[in-house]
Order: sequence, then C-alpha cells, then structure tokens
Amino acid sequence: MVEEKDKNIVLIGFMATGKTSIGKKISKSLDREFIDTDKLIEEKMAKTIPEIFEEHGEKYFRGLEKETIKQVSQLKNIVISCGGGVPLDPENIVNLRKNGKIFLLQADPQTILERTSKNKNRPLLDGNNSLETIERIMNVRKNIYLQAADTLIDTRGKSVSCLRDEIKEEFSK
Ligand code: S3P
Repeated sequence: MVEEKDKNIVLIGFMATGKTSIGKKISKSLDREFIDTDKLIEEKMAKTIPEIFEEHGEKYFRGLEKETIKQVSQLKNIVISCGGGVPLDPENIVNLRKNGKIFLLQADPQTILERTSKNKNRPLLDGNNSLETIERIMNVRKNIYLQAADTLIDTRGKSVSCLRDEIKEEFSK
C-alpha cells in the first residue's frame, strides 16, 4: 500500500481545463516528476494526437491511452495530467486510484471555447468547435467525471499559481 504522502496527484477534467499547466506547476513546487499522458502517447508513437486519430481512429487511441494509464498508475510520488477522455473507461480510474488521489478540474464551456479556439490539437473539437459541441460532450461526461473524482476543483477566476496552492493544500489534508 502506498502512503498518503507518496500518492500520485492525478488531474482529470475536460479538455482545456488547465490540467497540464497546473500539473507542471505542482510538480515543480513539490519537486516531483510530471507526466502528461497525451505527451507520453505522442512520444511512444512518434506522432501527434491529431495524427493518431486521423491515421488509426479514436478507438485505437483509447487503447494506447489505457495501456499508458496502466503503466503510469504503478508509479508513486508523481503528478499525472490525464487526457480529457481518460475517465470514460472505468478501469483507468480504478488503476489511477490505486496509487493516486484524483482531482477534477472544472471550467465553464465559454472559457473552454475561448481556450480551444486558439489551437488545433484536439481532434474531437477541430472543425466543429462551438459552445454547442462543448456543452454536448460535457453533458455526456459530467457524471462520469464527478464519479471519478476524489476532490473537485473549481478553476473559475483563479490563476494557475492559486490552483497549484489549492491542490497542494487539498492533497496534504
Ligand atoms: C480528449 C482530450 C485530449 C486528448 C484527445 C481526446 C478527450 O486531451 O487526449 O484529444 O477525449 O477529451 P486534453 O484533455 O489534454 O485536451
């Protein structure tokens, strides 16, 4: 059994809720390794996420994601930022929870639209990025996210540094 203080800090949530930028800040201030599951998949495949979706399809990507989650879940004392779709497979959450505490980052659809409009690396939104699409996907995932989380973090109106401190505080409780 992993001791509470050595548990992984696991960040989940919808696309563009700040998982990567907040995760990096937390890892730096706690002097822990940082792992971004999307980045790990891209490195393994030597392809970008949009290329993997385009060439192999979403189902294939979900398989890679599941394998990656299995591997990183075995580590301790790290910060893990998960791709937005990770909680959709309940086995991923069972694995992540073994050695980790799971934080759900929440943001409103308008903020997500503003953030995702700026880049083209999210195949589920590309070509179809609207408030309506974001709300539709969010509604499907809402309860799945809530059930997966140990702690809810409302990111609205808070800076990355403030969220880093809030998560560190919650983690040490
Ligand atoms: C996805 C989120 C993305 C990435 C892929 C699918 C999703 O990660 O894994 O495009 O299903 O929500 P981010 O949450 O880091 O954007």
